[in-house]
Amino acid sequence: MRTAFIAAALLLIVGSGQTGVAAEPSFPEVSKLPARADLPDPLVMFNGERVTTKEQWLDKRRPELKQLFQHYMYGYLPAPPAKVEAKLEREDKQALGGKATLREVTLSFGPPETPKIYLLLIVPNDRKGPAPVFLGLNFRGNHSVLSDPKIRLSTSWMPGNYPGVKDNRATDASRGTQADAWNVEQIIERGYALATIYNGDIAPDRPDAPERLQLHYPKKAEAKPGPHDWGTIAAWSWGLHRAVDYLVTDKDIEKDKIIVVGHSRLGKTALVAAAFDDRIAISMPHQAGCGGTAPSRGKIGESVKQINDRFPHWFTGAFKEFNDQTDRLPFDQHCLAAIVAPRPVLFTNAVEDTWANPDGQFQMLQAADPVYRLLGAGGLDAKKAPETNTLIDSKLGYFIRPGKHSMTKDDWKVFLDFADKHLGKPKG
Ligand code: GCU
Repeated sequence: MRTAFIAAALLLIVGSGQTGVAAEPSFPEVSKLPARADLPDPLVMFNGERVTTKEQWLDKRRPELKQLFQHYMYGYLPAPPAKVEAKLEREDKQALGGKATLREVTLSFGPPETPKIYLLLIVPNDRKGPAPVFLGLNFRGNHSVLSDPKIRLSTSWMPGNYPGVKDNRATDASRGTQADAWNVEQIIERGYALATIYNGDIAPDRPDAPERLQLHYPKKAEAKPGPHDWGTIAAWSWGLHRAVDYLVTDKDIEKDKIIVVGHSRLGKTALVAAAFDDRIAISMPHQAGCGGTAPSRGKIGESVKQINDRFPHWFTGAFKEFNDQTDRLPFDQHCLAAIVAPRPVLFTNAVEDTWANPDGQFQMLQAADPVYRLLGAGGLDAKKAPETNTLIDSKLGYFIRPGKHSMTKDDWKVFLDFADKHLGKPKG
């Protein structure tokens, strides 16, 4: 183990393309919102005004949608910290049999009790310059992504049903248990780096966790959140933004080629993260479904009521008021994808994963398409959902494979192909 040292400090974030929110605007109470069964038009302002130019979209409608999503669904993300300190804990230049350099970096910011973010970064050694990077949260700790006995074992709370978890803490038996989901060798061989964080280090995935980020940042807060305070998905996304703060300073990373990927609840997070941080080049929410990539309206797959009942901490308090009246939502999830425009977005799915509503997700891309077209950014080049195993690799991309709810080597091949198409193949 190498000597630890402080690698970087003082990252100024102002003007970095992220949204910091100064004050909450005065939107109506949920009961006063008009009910509409059809999808709200992304190109019509909250006051009914039509958006016809790129400038109107960028200056008015896009900022308005960001506010609306925060106000009614995810809660308000705080402004970025003035500085993020990055400490290199360990570096192994001969990881994966010499194919990669592995680094463990601790990110700290805010008041001293603020949870730290433990980033695992694996960069290919065989490259001619900085590498594009996939950034994603993992479910079971960084030590589950590779079976490398030296990777820091997470000490944060973890769901008790995960393999190798005892009394809600990881043990050595949980090492490498997510290696099949992450496929690090494949990523490295294709010339990409991987940066990953355990979601539970930012905020544990359970209601009322006292160690959650939202209670400690920007300052110590009330344990009972207000109706528009940030929920766990917003906190996870904001944590990814802090990883971006670091990645843009790392000389081995191509800072304009940061791809955010995530599975399921962490896929919902990947889309929110890209919507609120323009430094993210591509968003790839995999099997994300309700509360992310699938419509809140309609009766297919998981409903808003079901997600709020089972996971009350994921969204802001006000979102629960939509449980039995999703038609009052002033947006649907196509508007979240549209906020990411003109950057590429890829929704990937599996046939048996009907809970995530794959067809509804395709409709969200269709409904986001006019925004991409207005910006002259292409859009969704498919009139109907494709056959299985056929990648639609336009700016708004879609893919569905046979099988179940999981993240596999085949899914990674699709993520990598889509990234190659939009960012160019990495220089190996
Ligand atoms: C549950 C939840 C989904 C979520 C999924 C996951 O099924 O209802 O909304 O996407 O867990 O994260 O695996």
